[in-house]
Amino acid sequence: MRIVVGVGGGIAAYKACSLVRKFTETGHDVRVIPTESALQFVGKATFEALSGNPVHTGVFADVPEVPHVRIGQEADLVVIAPATADLMARAASGRADDLLTATLLTARCPVLFAPAMHTEMWEHPATIANVATLRAHGSTVMEPASGRLTGADTGPGRLPEPEEIFALASLLLERPDALPRDLEGRRIVVSAGGTREPLDPVRFLGNRSSGKQGYAMARVAAQRGAQVTLIAGNTIGLEPPAAVEVVHVTTAEQMGTAVDKHSAGADAVVMAAAVADFRPANVAAAKIKKGAHEPNSIELTKNRDILAGLVQARRDGQLSGLAIVGFAAETGDEHGDVLTHARAKLARKGCDLLVVNAVGDGKAFEVDNNDGWLLGADGTEQALDHGSKALLASRVLDALGPLLR
Ligand code: CTP
Repeated sequence: MRIVVGVGGGIAAYKACSLVRKFTETGHDVRVIPTESALQFVGKATFEALSGNPVHTGVFADVPEVPHVRIGQEADLVVIAPATADLMARAASGRADDLLTATLLTARCPVLFAPAMHTEMWEHPATIANVATLRAHGSTVMEPASGRLTGADTGPGRLPEPEEIFALASLLLERPDALPRDLEGRRIVVSAGGTREPLDPVRFLGNRSSGKQGYAMARVAAQRGAQVTLIAGNTIGLEPPAAVEVVHVTTAEQMGTAVDKHSAGADAVVMAAAVADFRPANVAAAKIKKGAHEPNSIELTKNRDILAGLVQARRDGQLSGLAIVGFAAETGDEHGDVLTHARAKLARKGCDLLVVNAVGDGKAFEVDNNDGWLLGADGTEQALDHGSKALLASRVLDALGPLLR
């Protein structure tokens, strides 16, 4: 695919280099178009070497090729990172005073802005209006991350990490309409990752959940405008998604407490976490040793079912109006195939939607792609096509939308 990476003049321009590299490494043809001020931060030679294509800022280079029209027309995706307040202002008002803004005017493909600026600039009414205009024009403007900005200050306005921009850009290539702002004003709780149940100070019982699917759910929901709390168990070192509140937990018990606390007042809870059903009945205070007192078995105690607890609380009139989504990782066995088990689980758990993944043979766990089925309590069944975990998340959120009060 032909990707244009537009680079605005902000300190985060250096992160555009990793983004360009991710696109070229995944086989895309990348044209980098910096603004004149972006070149104050990163040299033209760096972008040329990383993209393998010439780099210009103005419309008067290669004039016979008519680049100010052609690059935009031929692009499959335009990503602006960092999108500064000034660049978004120029884009929102339809200016074409350099090659990048001219390209934005001629592009008919998905356009993704990844903003980066100081909090004051991000929260200024002028920027808020420009972001609204760009969205109304059909562009996707990401929520920035919160955290350390240039200098010592922190707050919303930090450029989302290149991995995250890449994930959302890839999502728009898979599905251009994956990121509508349909969840604005909604509060969604997502659990992700596996829990760890300690045996002694150094050992635990765990599972193979990487957290990637739950993180993708949280990320896509936040970029569709929801206020998201992510209750994260053990994950494989994933970057926290931009504009998402992350609460870290270890055990199933801690996860249950955190989900209960944050689901009060929420519109939906999505239980993507792989919660341990059992925990060691006794946790040794000191490391279990070989020798005289070797244990030959582990006694287990059942953990409470967090999802079933939410459904029960809703039945009891607490959490009324809460939409509840469960996940099921299933393998077929002699009692039935994946879907048979999943239908039974949906009925047993009483949630509104159940996302079903077939696992085993390297599927679902730890990998970047996923597929499965989405079962609704109303009897609807939808196959979820193979694609990124963000794509699957976008389909689940499509189905969740109509269930929100
Ligand atoms: N779940 C939960 N609390 C638990 C176990 C599971 O909230 N103690 C949630 C998971 O987050 C997931 C759903 O329940 O959304 C299904 O999890 P799964 O482990 O497949 O279900 P189980 O009821 O444990 O069924 P199984 O007997 O197949 O393990």
